[in-house]
Amino acid sequence: KLMKVFITRRIPPEGAKLLSQAGVYEVAQWDSDEPVPRAELLKGVEGAHGILCLLSDKIDAELLDAAGPNLKVISTLSVGFDHMAMDEIKKRGIRVGYTPDVLTDATAELTVALLLAAARRLPEGVEEVKKSVGGWSSWKPLWLCGYGLSGSTVGVVGLGRIGLAIAKRLKAFGVKRTLYSGRTAKAYAGEVGGEFVPLDTLVAESDFVVVSCSLTPDTKGMCDQAFFNKMKKTAVFVNSSRGTVVNQEDLYQALSTGQIAAAGLDVTTPEPLPTDHPLLTLKNCVVLPHIGSATYSTRGVMAELSAQNLLGGLQGTDMPSELTF
Ligand code: GLV
Ligand code: GLV
Repeated sequence: KLMKVFITRRIPPEGAKLLSQAGVYEVAQWDSDEPVPRAELLKGVEGAHGILCLLSDKIDAELLDAAGPNLKVISTLSVGFDHMAMDEIKKRGIRVGYTPDVLTDATAELTVALLLAAARRLPEGVEEVKKSVGGWSSWKPLWLCGYGLSGSTVGVVGLGRIGLAIAKRLKAFGVKRTLYSGRTAKAYAGEVGGEFVPLDTLVAESDFVVVSCSLTPDTKGMCDQAFFNKMKKTAVFVNSSRGTVVNQEDLYQALSTGQIAAAGLDVTTPEPLPTDHPLLTLKNCVVLPHIGSATYSTRGVMAELSAQNLLGGLQGTDMPSELTF
């Protein structure tokens, strides 16, 4: 009897190709760019030996029960794994694959772009150029000024693989001091000649606060009113990790009252934000649709890696990127 695999979305062809070449699996897929409805997902995974999922699929006890006892492996097309109930997965002895490293450069590049977009007010500028009435009228010395990186202090909250890649890139802009905090920061701090400091110090002394940590019970809601109150009024806040690290009501307050200068968010809670969400009414808040890893080549490699992880799990052999927990 063939082993069954369920893929929860249309993914880059590199991934699907690997699975079909293997030829010994019954591959079912939600073949759409739009998310699979929960009921279809629960039906789709029934009896599956392997699931290839996305960060937008909630992998919880209900889903694991729906899949049943065949399930050997879950492979997520993401580096983040906060969408999966790891304790439930562990209890059932299921292996997990994910996609670290291959998306580090793309995510760091996007984070730098987002930081610059928020600090130099690019979306506002683009809007002004397009306005038929009352928009851009002349080069003006005091108009659309923002904040520059040269000579600044950058704070990276959560200096893991991606945080380090961001810090290295920002150094090239002439950043004077780089501050780090977080669980894994010490392992990397030397690589960019930065200073490991308590979070409070980082928040108070940085001109740019970049959040690049994973979402855990410890980091959930970490960026709250007290956090923003400690930031400089001229500072820019950037988050490309997970939206839930931020208390969005507190961020709205900080941005709308001038407690901080601007924010750039690639991630929010929920995703997408409702289009009438208060954060979307603010000129000093740049919100992107979670596109950190979205380059053609990176998504291709992620699809390949997640297919290889899935195959390793099905065959009971090594997975190129297995999450050990
Ligand atoms: C993106 O957010 C990822 O976790 O890969
Ligand atoms: C700007 O365009 C300048 O010439 O200073």
